[in-house]
Amino acid sequence: MKYSSQMVAKPYFIFALLLLAGEMLFGLVLGLQYINGDFLFPLIPFNVARMVHTNLLIVLILFAFMGAAYYLVPEESERELWSPKLAIITFWVFAVAGVITILGYLLVPYATLTEITYNHLFPTMGREFLEQPTIIKIGIVIVAISFVFNIAMTVLKGRKTVITVVLLTGLLGLAGLFLFAFYLPANLAEDKFFWWFVVHLWVEGVWELILGAILSFVLIKVTGVDREHIDKWLYLIIAMTLVSGIIGTGHHFFYIGTPDYWLWLGSIASAVEPLPFFLMVLYAFAMERQRRVFHENKIALTWAKGTAVIAFLGAGVWGFIHTLAPVNYYTHGTQLTAAHGHLAFFGAYIMIAFTIISYSMPIMRGRLKGNSLKAQKVERVSFWLMVIGMLGLTLALTVAGVWQIVLQRWPESGEALNFMSTQEHLIPVYKVRVLFGIMTVIGLLTYLYSFFIKEPKESIA
Ligand code: HEM
Ligand code: HEM
Ligand SMILES: [Fe+2]
Repeated sequence: MKYSSQMVAKPYFIFALLLLAGEMLFGLVLGLQYINGDFLFPLIPFNVARMVHTNLLIVLILFAFMGAAYYLVPEESERELWSPKLAIITFWVFAVAGVITILGYLLVPYATLTEITYNHLFPTMGREFLEQPTIIKIGIVIVAISFVFNIAMTVLKGRKTVITVVLLTGLLGLAGLFLFAFYLPANLAEDKFFWWFVVHLWVEGVWELILGAILSFVLIKVTGVDREHIDKWLYLIIAMTLVSGIIGTGHHFFYIGTPDYWLWLGSIASAVEPLPFFLMVLYAFAMERQRRVFHENKIALTWAKGTAVIAFLGAGVWGFIHTLAPVNYYTHGTQLTAAHGHLAFFGAYIMIAFTIISYSMPIMRGRLKGNSLKAQKVERVSFWLMVIGMLGLTLALTVAGVWQIVLQRWPESGEALNFMSTQEHLIPVYKVRVLFGIMTVIGLLTYLYSFFIKEPKESIA
């Protein structure tokens, strides 16, 4: 490791992995509740488990992004982090706030939570992904400001590279767009319109810049390809992302009370959105072909290529399936949406976390050439268990989605089933989903186990 302050990334990565274990566990609870509605009721109702599942997902990604930034920015900027102490304080504040929030969801009925946190004084609660009490949202803003400030000071005082500039732009966007979480119009159509400013413009806008920057950093390190080469790809990818992704927000504005022109704007712009994801696949494989070094941490490159491929499938292909307005008319809010949500989030943002963790963790543990062959072998098994698990889960949900649309929205007989009766027909498919979910969880446990495989003594630097 070149700079000692890079070490602050370690607690962020460890905490992100622990949260991921919790997230997947609650996914399994949800999956089982789809089969038996009374499972764990009244201890953990479905709505609470869902909130915990999705909130853990977002928070763990934020921890992984922060860890990634703290790790790669000093190395790129060729200087120590502006304030390692602030980074550690930020970690504890964010971790404690995160744990309190999750415990709040689990221990207090949501309606009571809104009351005891004085939501009526400044209402922001009650929307998917943005369920956090207002006071916690304010805490998140403070954490974000201190984090982005620390990173910005390091970038501005050090060597500026395309990677750090793209990363910083993404992080500023992430923090800035979160401010829409504080805007809750009483009109439901307006509420939804602005809700997507956070949710869509994060995952299909600024987060993609962060993804591109982290991917580029790891690719440079493990392939030794010239920076100029990497920079050209990164510029192209982020340009395509912003050109398509910003107006592409329109694919969420179909039939919700917004003007009709969104049917055209949303369909056309978002049909281009798979392109930057496809470019990422070409990019990762081209860099592998042109590589100048054969880094001994082979599994990090596997994760990098895997991220590009699964993100393209989940976001690009499964996103495109339902992004044209006439199609979305039938598919909106079905299991097809959940299929896409799972593979896109996993492929893009969970896998990039694995990529940077698998590259940097061995170095932070004094294993400069990566983990031992044995540990990498175990990690490779975990890679395939998780990738196949999530692909299987996605395919099961795709079948469920198509079946649901046929029964509920496109009945041959003219008589549509209602939502709950439709769900009963789908239970066999939901059983398959749980099996693949269990496979994914075993994959994660295998990944965590690989950390505990002892190194042969001579390889420790
Ligand atoms: C890292 C892995 C995972 C990611 C990234 C993930 C992501 C998500 C997302 C984004 C949603 C909201 C979907 C939407 O609004 O359309 C969700 C809901 C859900 N997830 Fe996961 N999840 C993961 C693992 C799992 C696992 C292993 C299972 C169980 C087998 C699972 C079961 C569910 C269920 C049942 C819901 C609720 C869907 C609904 O409301 O109808 N998830 N997950
Ligand atoms: C990594 C990037 C992406 C992630 C993490 C992601 C995630 C999600 C999630 C979680 C939802 C469900 C939100 C909800 O209603 O609760 C969603 C909806 C949607 N996504 Fe994506 N997405 C990504 C990229 C894309 C791309 C590139 C496209 C189009 C090509 C796309 C098209 C859509 C559409 C049309 C919907 C609305 C579905 C509906 O009407 O029910 N997404 N996305
Ligand atoms: Fe979107």
